[in-house]
Amino acid sequence: AGVQLADPALAEATADGLKRVEDLLHREVQGDYRFVTETSLHLIDAGGKRFRPLFTLLAAQVGPHPERDDVITAAAVVELIHLATLYHDDVMDAATMRRGAESANSRWDNSVAILTGDFLFAHASRLVADLGPDAVRIIAETFAELVTGQMRETRGPRADDDPVAHYLRVVGEKTGSLIATSGRYGGMYSGASPEHVEALRRFGEIIGTAFQISDDIIDIASPADDSGKTPGTDLREGVHTLPMLYALREEGPEHARLHALLSRPLTDDAEVDEALGLLRAGNGIAEARRTVAGYAEEARKELAQLPPCAAIDALSTLVDYTVERTG
Ligand code: FPP
Ligand code: MG
Ligand code: MG
Repeated sequence: AGVQLADPALAEATADGLKRVEDLLHREVQGDYRFVTETSLHLIDAGGKRFRPLFTLLAAQVGPHPERDDVITAAAVVELIHLATLYHDDVMDAATMRRGAESANSRWDNSVAILTGDFLFAHASRLVADLGPDAVRIIAETFAELVTGQMRETRGPRADDDPVAHYLRVVGEKTGSLIATSGRYGGMYSGASPEHVEALRRFGEIIGTAFQISDDIIDIASPADDSGKTPGTDLREGVHTLPMLYALREEGPEHARLHALLSRPLTDDAEVDEALGLLRAGNGIAEARRTVAGYAEEARKELAQLPPCAAIDALSTLVDYTVERTG
């Protein structure tokens, strides 16, 4: 259930680019200790959507040199960083499933998952050096932002924070930042103008935020076989996502049970199911979908800043995918 591009020439070019990215990912994790290659390939080969490298490749269509090796390197760098964070994220979220397979922490243990994340991060760093100091600085800043968002999520909002504003900030940092850099890199390494690179960065930040909100809706609304993850993970972690925050805004006795359930991390399967049932029956999911649609509209405005090219329609398809995805 990936992104389907309508333009056949562009579909072929991106399929070819993604194949080059795939080869690079596989080459990069070869080493003299087979076990770490195996644990790295565990998620690489679990069949992710490759949303970030795809976006880098499409963004590169805006510049005059979309087929440069640097574009492929940049696309591999963002995917490696993303994969590294997933290994760590599944430890922090105590997640047992990822991309329809056992998570690494569940198949092996937390130490193996953490070290595999570090290994992938090391290889992303090695590769990004080939792109030069600007790329290194950008990815370092992106990574710091992503970790800051994760830290902010872990700590939760303070008493005087607006919980929705806190959530949107976390999502912009932990997910928007890397997707923004994916677009920025695509523009930069295909030789796009600074204004176009900046529009691609902003577009990425916006669809990245929408992408994560969709992900948080999926955690509540979709069955496991669609999402490849265990539904209700956020409830178990006690993380309040946007559909929950909207549901919690509703007052009245019929909502008292939901307030009680969401007041602490849930450990009991029956309580998770009960909370999922209440959330699915309420208005929070529909309201969060409206927020995603608002971001989609903002993202399309950024596309109007770009020169007319085949990539615009494809980037618009990415927006559709972000809004409509169920897994
Ligand atoms: C997914 O969120 C998590 C992120 C986008 C970022 C996680 C960041 C880190 C783990 C920082 C540290 C990383 C390294 C390599 C040092 P989610 O849990 O809401 O999404 P999910 O549904 O895909 O699990
Ligand atoms: Mg997680
Ligand atoms: Mg998480």
